Amino acid sequence: MSHNQNPIGIFDSGVGGLSVFRQIRADLPHERLLYVADSGHAPYGNKAAEFIVRRSIAISEFLLEQGAKAIVVACNTATAAAIARLRQRFSLPIVGIEPAIKPAVALTHSGVVGILATGNTVRSDKFAALLNQHGQRARVLVQPCPGLADCVEYGDLTGARPRALLEQYLAPLLACGVDTLVLGCTHYPFLIPLIQQLAGPEVAILDPSPAVARQLRRRLDAAGLRADDAAVGGERFFTSGPSERPTRVIHHVLGRPVRLETLPEPFHSVG
Ligand code: DGL
Repeated sequence: MSHNQNPIGIFDSGVGGLSVFRQIRADLPHERLLYVADSGHAPYGNKAAEFIVRRSIAISEFLLEQGAKAIVVACNTATAAAIARLRQRFSLPIVGIEPAIKPAVALTHSGVVGILATGNTVRSDKFAALLNQHGQRARVLVQPCPGLADCVEYGDLTGARPRALLEQYLAPLLACGVDTLVLGCTHYPFLIPLIQQLAGPEVAILDPSPAVARQLRRRLDAAGLRADDAAVGGERFFTSGPSERPTRVIHHVLGRPVRLETLPEPFHSVG
């Protein structure tokens, strides 16, 4: 079987994609991983789709320049806005992430499922198609959550601000009998303890990161691109903004210190 030691590129608007990164790190320990936090342009949840497309292309070009053999769009908003364009433009395997509506509909007992995501994700055509495909066998309540990803971006996982926002966003869902919540934004898994506390222990919370890591493994295997089992997996982290805050937040959410490099200048502009 052939092997490939080139890195896998992973990106998000900021630190949220680290919920996907940590799963990939755990499942594929021999791979070299590059993570780009587009913190200089976060959040994506309220930006024009064309802006997100241009940022996704610029970051992918940077990752390709670093020798990436595959790209993971660890952002629901960027997947919805840009993955089709990235796949048109670049020929390497590109794995995205979308809200886990299908598993949620299969899991619910009450027949009512809640989706938490950014405004851009829930307004996208891709989301409408997903809802149309899998949302028929349950009542699916869609809740955009402006401001919530920013709490995570600033490292506030348990404070008054995320608590107030989540109380507001969860109330209508819980009132309708939601027993399964889909985390449709990669920032939200870092809020699971708070969400579980507010929603109660009976509510199931679905994080699609394991499915993304499995899909990445399948794509690498199919293309003969997996690293050798004897290889030591490395990692590098990049940001497009000032590095002090994301360095602190990444330390907090990953539970270990990392060195954050600055994305080279040509990849900062919106293109
Ligand atoms: N983490 C991103 C997502 O999965 C977007 C958060 C944002 O930048 O608004 O949708």
